[in-house]
Amino acid sequence: MTAFNYDSIDLAALPPETEPARQRYFIARLRHWTKKRREALGRPLTCFVTTFGCQMNAHESEKLLGILRDAGFEEGRDETADLVLYNTCTVRENADLRVYGRLGRVSTIKKKNPDMMIAICGCMMQEEHVIEKIRKSYPFVDVVLGHINNYRLAELLAERIDCGHQVIDIENGRRRIVEDLPAERKYSFKSGVNIMFGCNNFCSYCIVPYVTGRETSREMKDILNECRLLVKNGVKEIMLLGQNVNSYGKTLANPITFAELLKEVEKIDGLERIRFMTSHPKDLSDELIEVMKNSGKICRHLHLPLQSGSSRILKIMNRHYDKEQYLELARKIRQEIPDMAITTDIIVGFPGETEEDFLETMDVVEKVQYDSAFTFIYSKRSGTPAAKMEDQIPADVIKDRFDRLLALVQANAAKRCELLQGTDQKVLVEEEDDHMYGYVTGRLSNNSVVHFEGSKDLIGSIVPVHLDEARGFYYMGTMIR
Ligand code: 5AD
Ligand code: SF4
Repeated sequence: MTAFNYDSIDLAALPPETEPARQRYFIARLRHWTKKRREALGRPLTCFVTTFGCQMNAHESEKLLGILRDAGFEEGRDETADLVLYNTCTVRENADLRVYGRLGRVSTIKKKNPDMMIAICGCMMQEEHVIEKIRKSYPFVDVVLGHINNYRLAELLAERIDCGHQVIDIENGRRRIVEDLPAERKYSFKSGVNIMFGCNNFCSYCIVPYVTGRETSREMKDILNECRLLVKNGVKEIMLLGQNVNSYGKTLANPITFAELLKEVEKIDGLERIRFMTSHPKDLSDELIEVMKNSGKICRHLHLPLQSGSSRILKIMNRHYDKEQYLELARKIRQEIPDMAITTDIIVGFPGETEEDFLETMDVVEKVQYDSAFTFIYSKRSGTPAAKMEDQIPADVIKDRFDRLLALVQANAAKRCELLQGTDQKVLVEEEDDHMYGYVTGRLSNNSVVHFEGSKDLIGSIVPVHLDEARGFYYMGTMIR
């Protein structure tokens, strides 16, 4: 995080054994190497990082980019860069297929430019069959790095430069948390902050616990220090990240709850908005609802994955709640915090899902009236219990259910969106509008997007906006001056 003086490191000495000193040593070595290359080529070296998958992965990429920046790379625009890094996801099969597609295409670029380096990391690399395939079919990949040990990027690149052949380094088990490594931020005014890594839930369809390892929480003091430093550097909105934030702190030597952590983050002067992702319904406590209700900073948005509305399927999914418990939780939240937007994840076509099960899902969607929902077609992940289940659902049945679900989700979202039409809301301005010149785009506390006329100097500030028109899942507005 802090600007570090790499020139103070003695490169003639052996690499230190402890972290983060060891990684700093390798970053310093790479700096030396990129400097020499820059002088020889007469131009800076560039890197290009592509992220697949979730917000946690996007944040991992910011950290990887921070390492590369400190190592002397400038950010390039595309895969013609000197170093291309793919940060992969493996939650559904099509994520894997996209990565293989990209590797195929980048190989033709490398044929023309053999000096370029290709590195690949992320969740997909935690699977043995993937490593085998890369070893056999993609020998041009220079560095293969696991998700759990991705903080060692500089060390592995240095090794690749020294040895001249493919370097593979994958660790398994619990993630080791290394503090005080660099990070690059995509936005100057908002940032993710990891509060925990891994997942212990083993939902029967999900590969995540196998690839990210056991749940490990960061110490509260380290989280608060990172948040304070971010705010000092201009950050107004922080997103606390974890696979299951509601179980934060259980594995610490002095256990604390997620609600207690939130209360401490709330105290940081200058921080304006707090978000978090993802909540598991089984662990969402009354204490947390109370803290959210009384907070002036926690955003009015709760992502509460349902997965299925059928109690029978939820049991087989190993979710530890049933339809009634979920509905009761949603009711309680709506009652205590009426302006809270609720969003969700739903899987269609889990093995054995009958039409009746699916109608239970539709019933929950209708009752909860989600502000938006990510809908996924079930994807078989080898190694998970669900992959071995009989009665996988035919593609045409899934497609039909998926379309019906999506139509209902969109209709409900449009109704929810209309509720705020005509009101004034505070908006954090995020970027210039892609499509309309002279317009900017921002987000309300409830995470809805609004477009309004304004110039780019508004980016990063929180301004009042009148919501003129609800357009299904976003608004057109006018800034109040
Ligand atoms: N198939 C489809 N969707 C899945 N998810 C996790 N595993 C699978 C799978 N095998 C979805 C869940 C989770 C989201 C991040 O991805 O809905 O909440
Ligand atoms: Fe996967 Fe379930 Fe863990 Fe979420 S809670 S990451 S769905 S195992």
